[in-house]
Amino acid sequence: MIVPGAPGSPPVDVAAALEEVTDHWTPRVVGRVNDQYVKVAKLLGELVWHAHDQEDELFLVVFGRLRIQLEDRPEVVLEPGQLFVVPKGVRHNPVADEEVGIVLIETVTTQHTGSERTDRTVPIEQQLW
Ligand code: NI
Repeated sequence: MIVPGAPGSPPVDVAAALEEVTDHWTPRVVGRVNDQYVKVAKLLGELVWHAHDQEDELFLVVFGRLRIQLEDRPEVVLEPGQLFVVPKGVRHNPVADEEVGIVLIETVTTQHTGSERTDRTVPIEQQLW
């Protein structure tokens, strides 16, 4: 499978990639570095509480304001240009009160909604374009 943003492939414009995303909560892979995928996604509303038992998960806000609710610790609020890494095993729930554009960096094995399965869970095969 050809992955956009694979090593040596043409440069990827993150803003342009975000413009092509039409569905909320549907990450798209735009790059790969070693065993990490770089993804873009648009968010609106909230996803679902979940955890990734084996993987940390990086959120970098491009536009908008993202709240990340965390179990047993204060909520994190990210403005454009700010990033936060959710530690492995920590239950979290991203909330976008307005539309938010983000870059995600996740291990290739990371499941969209961790061990939770919802009708909004997007399998990795559908995150590749
Ligand atoms: Ni997550």
